[in-house]
Amino acid sequence: MYRSAFQYMYDTEGNTYLDAYNNIMIVGHCHPSVVRAGQRTMARLNTNTRYLYEEILSYSERLLETFPRELNKVFLVNSGSAASDLALRLAKCHAAKEKIAVLEHGYHGNTQTGIRVSHYKYAADGGGGKDPNVIQLPLPQVYGSNLTDDGTAGTYFANEALRLLVPEEHKVAAFIAEPIVGCGGQVPLPKGYLRSIYQEIRKQGGVCISDETQVGFGRLGEHFWGFEAYGVVPDLVVLGKPMGNGHPIGAVVTTEAIARSFESGPEFFSSFGGNPVSCAIAEAVLEVIQHEGLQEHARMVGDYLKNRLLALQKEFPVIADVRGSGLFLGVEIRTADGSPGTEIAKEIKNQLRHMHILVSTDGPYDQVLKIKPPLTFANRDADQLCRAIKVILEQDNYDLAKKK
Ligand SMILES: Cc1ncc(COP(=O)(O)O)c(C=O)c1O
Repeated sequence: MYRSAFQYMYDTEGNTYLDAYNNIMIVGHCHPSVVRAGQRTMARLNTNTRYLYEEILSYSERLLETFPRELNKVFLVNSGSAASDLALRLAKCHAAKEKIAVLEHGYHGNTQTGIRVSHYKYAADGGGGKDPNVIQLPLPQVYGSNLTDDGTAGTYFANEALRLLVPEEHKVAAFIAEPIVGCGGQVPLPKGYLRSIYQEIRKQGGVCISDETQVGFGRLGEHFWGFEAYGVVPDLVVLGKPMGNGHPIGAVVTTEAIARSFESGPEFFSSFGGNPVSCAIAEAVLEVIQHEGLQEHARMVGDYLKNRLLALQKEFPVIADVRGSGLFLGVEIRTADGSPGTEIAKEIKNQLRHMHILVSTDGPYDQVLKIKPPLTFANRDADQLCRAIKVILEQDNYDLAKKK
């Protein structure tokens, strides 16, 4: 790739790609307001974070305005991994316990602690297996469960999780989960699930962490933060990816009590986390999301795209499920006999790439198409994507449904 703008990427040969995949560039690749904010600030002041400057205060205040009142402290770092690592450290320090409850297929970062709490990594080949201090809860996935998302599935999966959590009474420091489990294959948590789990964790004196690295900042359309969709308020929130529209910045947002309990330990310091340039860029991102109404845009275009994908599902049995919210969608691919459509998903992804449309795949069998474009993605882009998927699925030189 050589250049990019909004929902388009251009390669070194001058080809244009429609980017339906890059959730980091939330306000669009190279958005001019974000680029200018970085250029302006970098030309005036950049420093490590031992100084006082306006950008860190102005951004922190603006960011915290998007959270419920009790989440009023922010720690700025340089990546989602640094944020999840810090959130877990804060949690352990506050709860004074060691055990962490995680979801199967979850991913929370590349640090040692991040890998230790990421089933997606520790359970993979060479991943080293589960740490004894990790409590692994089944992925609460409505699709394939024969349950409905009217509270029934939430109760069922919460009860399964409680069977593993209750015997650990008074040992659990934290529960960490994404509101929609990205690496699990864009799996939304069932209604009521988080409420039950949060209740049990808090009863045990632990804290609840929402990893909003992928889904935060309005991408889900209906809600600015993923936890809001489930009517819960976490104790710690992990932020990253879209926060700087590609510039490396992450954060932990938490309560005053948790932040204070951390003060008795060794000082927290990050050389770059929250530097003036990063804060100016992140503030420009927030400003663009709000000023350009991108959350509402994600809701409208996301609904339009989801409906078009659901229409394709009626035509093509390989599309087994269409799920997600706003512009964070997953398309589950299954073979004619109902097994995971790994090769079919790969074929669709690669054929789309040859047609200059970018998506990716994920899920335990790499059987789910991930669609999470920059929020500038428009209805006509949704049309282009769905038309291309239809062309691929209609091809008679592939009997896709029979492929494994
Ligand atoms: C849910 C989630 N948490 C944390 C991270 C880690 O973020 P980073 O790659 O910026 O360190 C990722 C990255 O893929 C992620 O998807």
